[in-house]
Parts: sequence; structure tokens; C-alpha cells
Amino acid sequence: MRGDRFTDKVAVVTGAASGIGAAAARAFAAEGAKLALLDSNQEGLREMAKEIAGSGYFVVDVASGASIKAAFDAVLQAFGTVHVLVNSAGVIGKWTLQNMTEVEWDRVLDINLKGTALCTQAVIAPMRARGGGAVVNVSSMAGKRVSYAGAANYTASKTGVVGFTWHAAFELAAYKIRVNAVCPGPTITGMTRKRTPEQLAATAARIPLGRWVLPEDVANAILFLASDEAAMCTGTALDVDGGILVSNGSSYEEYFASRT
Ligand SMILES: NC(=O)c1ccc[n+]([C@@H]2O[C@H](COP(=O)([O-])OP(=O)(O)OC[C@H]3O[C@@H](n4cnc5c(N)ncnc54)[C@H](O)[C@@H]3O)[C@@H](O)[C@H]2O)c1
Repeated sequence: MRGDRFTDKVAVVTGAASGIGAAAARAFAAEGAKLALLDSNQEGLREMAKEIAGSGYFVVDVASGASIKAAFDAVLQAFGTVHVLVNSAGVIGKWTLQNMTEVEWDRVLDINLKGTALCTQAVIAPMRARGGGAVVNVSSMAGKRVSYAGAANYTASKTGVVGFTWHAAFELAAYKIRVNAVCPGPTITGMTRKRTPEQLAATAARIPLGRWVLPEDVANAILFLASDEAAMCTGTALDVDGGILVSNGSSYEEYFASRT
């Protein structure tokens, strides 16, 4: 165990079967939390539940309010309360706007934005009842500028997650529920792993800190925001992007080539 910031606290993580959600679940468990693992991927959840002692897993489709209600009812029945919620379930899209169907628009917005809002709504009552809590939403650097990996619906969903984070933070501060977001840059997960070594290297060359983000880098930021160390942080969106958002997108090679 690397710390004890979450001893006996109940942490609910959506998207826990893979990538950033899985890394966050492992990190919370390493610091003593009891984990409720939520995802639509039952097989992946089963593997994670085997790995994390004392965890429970709950199959959910975060695009569906009815599915979210059933999953959170089951979480509360199993664990009694919720201290932390991490909204990491998400999907990306590749369509250009001129070719995008309504179904594709809705798919990404429903999972990434509506799912985040409805899962947050589901923990308000239990967090209020215990005097507070912490929600961490996984947005993206696409919450702050155009997505290169995804499409207009992805950028809109992630910008929406940042706006939702501000508004929920404002309203829920009355109940001592803090709501923050992380904005990861290109992170090696199921979402990005399909690229060729050349594509991976080309992206790394444009990241000022020189490498892809790891799911564990994002998990560290999530744990900080969920912990008492961040007791006075709410409504923030913390970049975990290796410096991309402060750069103009060119590589260091190009930047220094024209300078003495
Ligand atoms: N990988 C990146 O470069 C990157 C960068 C910025 C932000 N993000 C965000 O991080 C979050 C996690 O993504 P990741 O990179 O770990 O990808 P991932 O594909 O490894 O994990 C996403 C998880 O969400 C689950 N999921 C998808 N649709 C769902 C649904 N309807 N209901 C429940 N679960 C569902 C998937 O089964 C999967 O386990 C996403 O919100 C993504 O947009 C990723």
C-alpha cells in the first residue's frame, strides 16, 4: 500500500474495466479504498474484481438513466455509502461533422456527458447523507481545445464535462460535495493502443514532456482531487497532458530549428 488517504472509503469508478478507470481503481485500492467497479464490459470487470480484493462489480450502460439507477442502487445495497465517484467511462468518435449521423452524435454525448451528469446525480443523496464527498470527472484536453484524436461530438462532450464540472461544483458545495475534473492528454489505453509505433512516436514528439501520458499519471491526479489534500479545490479542471495545452502543437525539433 502506498498511502492511506482512502482507508475504508467507498470509491465508485465508472469505466473501471480498462485504461484510466482501471488505473484509478487500482490506485484507490492501494490506498485502502473499497472499490465499486462499474463498466459495460462484464468480462473486463470480472478480471478487475479478481485483482482487487473486496471489490464489487456492477455492469452498467452509462448512456441509460435506468441502467445507472439500477447499478447505483446495487452499489448502495452492497457498500452502504459512497465517498468518491470517478466518472471515467467514455468513448471516442471519428466522423467528420459533415458525415456525422444523429445516432453517432447521441452515442458520444450520451455516454461521455449525460452519463457523467446522471452518475453524479446518483451519488448526491448518499454523499449528502454522510456530510460530503468528492466527484472527479475524466474530461480531456479536448475539453479545452479541438480534439485531434476524436471528432466534433467528442470535443463537445468533453467541453461539456468541464462546464458540467463547474456548475455541479457550484451547486453541490452547499452539501460539501466537491466536483473536479482531469484533462488528460494522449494516454496509452484501449482508446489509443491501436496506433502504429510510428504514429505513437509522432505524437510523443509533440508532447513537450516527451512521452505519452500513462493511465497511472492520470490516476495520481484523480486521487489527489478525490483526497482531503484537495479539500478546498472544487470546480477545477487539472491538465495531465505533458504540456500540450501550453504548446502550439509543433514539435521541439521544429520549434528550435528556427531559433538560436
Ligand atoms: N486515452 C486517451 O488518450 C484519453 C485522453 C483524454 C481523455 N480520455 C478519457 O478518459 C476516459 C477513459 O478512457 P480510456 O482512455 O481509459 O479508454 P478505455 O477504452 O481504455 O476505457 C473506457 C472504458 O469505458 C467503458 N465504457 C464505454 N462505454 C460505456 C458505457 N456506455 N457504459 C459503461 N462503460 C462504458 C469501456 O468499456 C471501457 O472499459 C474517457 O472518458 C476518455 O474520453 C482518454
